[in-house]
Amino acid sequence: MIAPRGGTGGYWIRPALGKDVTAILGLIAPYARQGLMLPRSEGEIRAGMAELLVATRPNGEVVGCGGLRLYPDDTAEIVSLAVAPTERGRGLGARWVARLRRRSQALGVGRTFALTLDPDFFEGRGFQLAARSDFPEKEAADCRVCPRRGSCREVAVVHVEVEARRSADLTSYTISV
Ligand SMILES: CC(C)(COP(=O)(O)OP(=O)(O)OC[C@H]1O[C@@H](n2cnc3c(N)ncnc32)[C@H](O)[C@@H]1OP(=O)(O)O)[C@@H](O)C(=O)NCCC(=O)NCCS
Repeated sequence: MIAPRGGTGGYWIRPALGKDVTAILGLIAPYARQGLMLPRSEGEIRAGMAELLVATRPNGEVVGCGGLRLYPDDTAEIVSLAVAPTERGRGLGARWVARLRRRSQALGVGRTFALTLDPDFFEGRGFQLAARSDFPEKEAADCRVCPRRGSCREVAVVHVEVEARRSADLTSYTISV
């Protein structure tokens, strides 16, 4: 459980389920209308369900979503990250990103990246601006067939995970000797 900053109770993080689709769409759609996120259809959410996590309040209300998508070129993308307006500014987004990066590191991924309309939040978490062409597998999988391709304003941000991987390698050498 994640304890919120300056609040009571906490958040549970769990894999997204079919029953969460409406809530996830409800989180993303208002931000998409404000130009903070790209819109997502129900089909897109269902297709990416296996990689999504949700945050819930103890009463079961879904107040956040986000996940990690792995690519064959040693990268992992943070996808569909959104925190409900009522919960913003309480530390959930920052801790979620930290958790997704830890998952990247545990999997030995070299770089964690995001395509975002709001790079400032990620820069505050240690990510750096990058070129979208640095992520050719992402481009091949999504961007080339995206109907918004000609007008997309998303910016790439990246966090290199190499140091974490080096220490993980060192740990396994120590154990094997
Ligand atoms: C961006 C978002 C996920 C952040 O979640 P959150 O729970 O509100 O963030 P936190 O409370 O963990 O804030 C962590 C820090 O980031 C800062 N921050 C939050 N949103 C920010 C933004 N849009 N720009 C810059 N900094 C931001 C906070 O001020 C805080 O700073 P601090 O550590 O110095 O106090 C959330 O505001 C959101 O859902 N926004 C709309 C959708 C979106 O932009 N998604 C992300 C990219 S696709």
